[in-house]
Amino acid sequence: MIVRQLFDYDTWTYTYLIADKKTLEAAFIDPVRTNIDRDLSLLSELGLNLKYTLDTHVHADHVTASGNLRERTGCKTGVAKSNEVECADLALIQGDILPLGALKIDVIETPGHTSGCLSYYVDECLFTGDSLLIRGCGRTDFQQGNAGELYDTIQKKIFTLPEKTIVYPGHDYHGRILSTIGEERRHNPRLKLTRDQFLEFMKTLNLPDPKLIMEAVPSNQSCGRA
Ligand SMILES: [Fe+2]
Repeated sequence: MIVRQLFDYDTWTYTYLIADKKTLEAAFIDPVRTNIDRDLSLLSELGLNLKYTLDTHVHADHVTASGNLRERTGCKTGVAKSNEVECADLALIQGDILPLGALKIDVIETPGHTSGCLSYYVDECLFTGDSLLIRGCGRTDFQQGNAGELYDTIQKKIFTLPEKTIVYPGHDYHGRILSTIGEERRHNPRLKLTRDQFLEFMKTLNLPDPKLIMEAVPSNQSCGRA
């Protein structure tokens, strides 16, 4: 599998370009609208055909490039069914499988950061969005976030994947790029807490709202076209 990790300076968001080496079919995961020219250049330089753009959730901090990428390339856009994003081509649920050349993308529902979060498992790599971050996890204080649900998601659905699975997060604020399930099980301080301690900890985070929340959430409900 080809994996390229791309960074958005304004929001510390990672976008991923993944592709099957043989057929050159490709997918973007969490593309950011303001980076569309950079990302389309890379796609064309690598000779890839974009089949999907997939969002891990309805983002609050940036606007998705999904609608614009669909217009420019004819790809299909996918996001969780529970988000009720009417413009999306694929309303994804647990267990969906998206073929990408010889690869397959398994859709895993990982709610908690928001109620409609998905992770994508491809070729021993897990793209976790904001569910599991490196040595951390997504906040749970808006968009129907739920700390208990996030704890259960990570312990029961994410940490049960093989230890060597590579974790590619949706953000990192400390310059880290990737991790593994084994490493996070052993060293993620939040997930070493008991469920009750985790609930208490998440309550005390007191983070400011993302700068773009009022604009990004409604725009992302329209595939970034509003
Ligand atoms: Fe998020």
